[in-house]
Amino acid sequence: MGDDGAARRPPVLAVSPEALEEAVRVLRGGGLVAFPTETVYGLGADAANPDAVARIFAAKGRPADHPLIVHVASAEAARGWAASFPEPARALAEAFWPGPLTLVLPRSDRVPDAVTGGRATVGLRVPDQPVALALLERFGGGVAAPSANRFGRVSPTTAEHVAADLGERVDLVVDGGPCAVGVESTIVEVDGDRLTVLRTGAVTAEDVAAVTGLPVAATPTGPARAPGMLAAHYAPRARVVLAEAPEAAETVARWVEKGHRVAVLAEVLPEGLPQGAVPLPPVASARDYARVLYQRLRDVDAAGADVVVAVPPEPAGIGLAVRDRLLRASRAH
Ligand code: TXA
Ligand code: MG
Repeated sequence: MGDDGAARRPPVLAVSPEALEEAVRVLRGGGLVAFPTETVYGLGADAANPDAVARIFAAKGRPADHPLIVHVASAEAARGWAASFPEPARALAEAFWPGPLTLVLPRSDRVPDAVTGGRATVGLRVPDQPVALALLERFGGGVAAPSANRFGRVSPTTAEHVAADLGERVDLVVDGGPCAVGVESTIVEVDGDRLTVLRTGAVTAEDVAAVTGLPVAATPTGPARAPGMLAAHYAPRARVVLAEAPEAAETVARWVEKGHRVAVLAEVLPEGLPQGAVPLPPVASARDYARVLYQRLRDVDAAGADVVVAVPPEPAGIGLAVRDRLLRASRAH
């Protein structure tokens, strides 16, 4: 499909038995189906079909060496895609699947090179979303799926985001409503007893340590261990500026004085905002912040703001993932 693939809208079906049947038919035929998960919408293809997987990279405009997560309906199904499933992985799967956790494990022979960019490991996840689980159960196989956005754009948390961003590059969008978690899954690499968090999400490194009783290496900074975790991946068009609450109003004023249209994102809107600042609807908690983060970043662009000053949530629980995404977004410009 050409570069004008986004010009026309794809079919978007509200979830129903017929919609799921159609989605399975598209997957079996080697096509692309966008579907809801609890984190973000995924752009799915039959993980066992290299041609179908290649279409994901074309539709996203994503470099072929960025590996994809294989989504399956159960931990039992996941075992078929891993060459080994060490005890810590078993414990994590039992504690958090279905849920927002991806396990990176040695890949089995069943995993095509196209899915992993040729690497020796594969990312596996059982999503906690009824539509996703119903689709995976009916399909029966693994569904390789990155977030359903064009490469370098904000992840989609509604069917509308997917339709607007990918257009006819996707064959079918199944609409299961907005995503409950809102930020991508936590990725944990399990190398025997060595655990490394490659991306933070709703499941924290503390949770992983508590369940396994093992030390957990922190998310490596510097060159990304999980390819594809580049700054620009989480950024809107507008520049993202981070400010802690006490200095937020002053930061906003500085950017307004420089002639920018400045949006403000926070749990509690700072007092004394200058005239001309564009406050976004405040968020109720760290959990709520995660749920609406990508919607709000889209709202910034829609409001015509070229700067957003974001007051990040407390660095605990899912607030850590929100801070991580905001920090990456702030480095993109
Ligand atoms: O919540 C999520 O994980 C969503 C939903 C759709 O499940 N998916 C998602 O996929 O965020 P994507 O492709 O946008 O991000 C997956 C990340 C990438 O940074 C990729 O490099 C990393 O997972 N990844 C996948 N397989 C890997 C592997 N074998 N080793 C290291 N990193 C891997
Ligand atoms: Mg992504």
